[in-house]
Amino acid sequence: MADRNTTEVSEAQIAAHWKEEEYYYPSAKFISQANLVDADIDKKFGLDNFPESFKGYADLLDWYKYWHTTLDSSNPPFWKWFAGGQLNVSHNCIDRHLDKNKGKAAIIFVPELEEEQPVAVTYQELYVRVNETAALLRDYAGLKKGDRVTIHMPMTPELPVTMLACARLGVIHSVVFGGFSGMACGDRIADSGSRVLITSDGYYRNGQIQNHKEKADIAVKRAKELGAQVDKVLVWRRHPGKYISSTPMVNGRDYFMDELLKDYRGKRVAPVPVAAEDPLFLMYTSGTTGKPKGIQHSTGGYLAYVAGTSKNILDIHPEDIYWCMADIGWITGHSYIVYGPLALGTTSVIYEGVPTYPDAGRPWRIAQQLDVNIFHTAPTSIRQLRKLGPEEPRKYDYHFKLMVTVGEPIEPDVWRWYYNEVGKKEAVIVDTWWQTENGGFLCSTKPALNPMKPGSAGPGVPGIHPVIYDENGDELPPGTQKAGNICIRNPWPGIMQTIWGDPDRFVATYYAKYCKNRQSKNWRDWPYFAGDGALYAADGYIRILGRVDDVINVAGHRLGTKELESACLTVPEVAEAAVVPVVDQIKGRIPEVYIALKPGVSLDHGEVQKKVVSAIEDIIGKIARPSHVWVAEDMPKTRSGKIMRRVLAAVSNNMDVGDVTTLANPDIVEHIKIMVQSRAKREASTGTPEDIKRFGQNE
Ligand code: WT7
Repeated sequence: MADRNTTEVSEAQIAAHWKEEEYYYPSAKFISQANLVDADIDKKFGLDNFPESFKGYADLLDWYKYWHTTLDSSNPPFWKWFAGGQLNVSHNCIDRHLDKNKGKAAIIFVPELEEEQPVAVTYQELYVRVNETAALLRDYAGLKKGDRVTIHMPMTPELPVTMLACARLGVIHSVVFGGFSGMACGDRIADSGSRVLITSDGYYRNGQIQNHKEKADIAVKRAKELGAQVDKVLVWRRHPGKYISSTPMVNGRDYFMDELLKDYRGKRVAPVPVAAEDPLFLMYTSGTTGKPKGIQHSTGGYLAYVAGTSKNILDIHPEDIYWCMADIGWITGHSYIVYGPLALGTTSVIYEGVPTYPDAGRPWRIAQQLDVNIFHTAPTSIRQLRKLGPEEPRKYDYHFKLMVTVGEPIEPDVWRWYYNEVGKKEAVIVDTWWQTENGGFLCSTKPALNPMKPGSAGPGVPGIHPVIYDENGDELPPGTQKAGNICIRNPWPGIMQTIWGDPDRFVATYYAKYCKNRQSKNWRDWPYFAGDGALYAADGYIRILGRVDDVINVAGHRLGTKELESACLTVPEVAEAAVVPVVDQIKGRIPEVYIALKPGVSLDHGEVQKKVVSAIEDIIGKIARPSHVWVAEDMPKTRSGKIMRRVLAAVSNNMDVGDVTTLANPDIVEHIKIMVQSRAKREASTGTPEDIKRFGQNE
């Protein structure tokens, strides 16, 4: 938990790196068709009307039983939204659209190989596939309401089919990002207590077939080491009938979904009504300790919130063609590829591959071919597409009405390229700030009502009341010019319910910091602590400065420094490890590793460095690959023996290390500096972001 000094960023520092940007306005054409044009919306969602203000979101859904209490806040901070209500997510995302729209595309799958044509899955086809899969999961795999299932799959339609089949049965899914390693998947299987793993044989990435099934074997082995038994591994095949993995199937444990499904043709499963507060899914995310947190999301509150925000902020209409380029294995994909868009009955595009395959024109060709009109991606992809093909968007005839940026702060310059080139100066941009824990958007401009400001997420979305506190719990109102910790004053329907199996950690992580009275039954005493530094501009727009904890945001993905360090320490030669973020022009941040070796290690440094990199890739995944592994004689330490990551981060980013005279071993800093700075000169590090400056200050 962060403590004093975390946000001691001086006014001067901020002024040096942030200048007020100009406003951009939505077009009359956009406004004339927008869902949210009610100028009184913020008043209607004001705290005076809380929590009834959220009723309209729940009314976007079908309920088997209407709720009796909008918000049951009797046991803070374990909020219960729409208590007494019963519903089913699969019914809301599929069945209820059939009457009018059975022949409309629910999903359009775009394979990575350009010679494979896009495949449309209609709402009727989705209905059939989800029913048959649900029948299989129930009758063959023995799954029932409340059981957990781990799903480790790439971006193919079978992933949402599997998720929706779980939801139809009330089974809690835990989707693990396909790029995570088998070990990481195994940790999550064990923590969630899943007996069934659903995976796939392989997929295409950068034109190459990836062997995905091999990760399942590692995952099952890892789960077993942790005391969790996986009985069945269900394998979807990228090309039904043809196995593209070289890893053998295990007899009596592994089964092909396409073969099993033959016995379930035509089967229908009535959607199981679940309580609004029954969990829909778990999503693991990184925190300040080595152990990932299983973020538990509800059914009713979550679905209501993603449907409402998809309508108001993404401006999704049923007739739109909506494409979010995120991976379904992250929260963005859950909320804004699968659940929100399908609840509204729109068409959601799923792209298998990387945005730059075979070239940086690919996304724009897809947009042109499918006539996509809403586009959703992260700054990392925008930076990469700009770098590789700054003029590519001009070559294609597509028109976006709205574009989204999410996951990390976007530089104003990158924002302008997105606006001018990708959006052709026609599209509204929403910069949406939120987190895995939140279910849906927290801050963003309202697309038809607020002007855009490059680099700013904007005010709280309707019903979200942000506040920025300093370390003492005093408010930093708009225009203060001082950074603090962003919190949300009130609960909202999309907020997580708890950390799976660890309610104490839930309270400690998100509420302990600013709750003045733990006995209080009043939600007003329980502001939600997000863990981001932020600045409130005079116009009420919020600029997110980055994490205040030990989390590194790499290309919009959260990695815990402690997780990476634990991975390094599995290499027998390594005595100590410290991981710091380094500013990267494309990915935002990349981890850099410092290690000290055990005495008497005779192995060549190059060998140890290789072992460290492969340990990180095996235990976490390739996304965590460090930019460099430095072998240091010793780590800079405090007199009490704590490694000073802040000092290492300063060295790695060519920043001033500050006063190190109070360290136990100040001389080591100079040695490390010489070693690091002797490498080829890095790209100039002017404008080092605030999160790097603050990094490690809470040590
Ligand atoms: C962290 C949450 C929520 C979807 C993707 C990430 C950073 C998120 C923004 C934004 C600046 C952002 C924050 C946050 N972040 N959106 N628009 N501007 N920073 O989910 O993996 O839970 O990461 O991403 O630091 O705390 P996540």
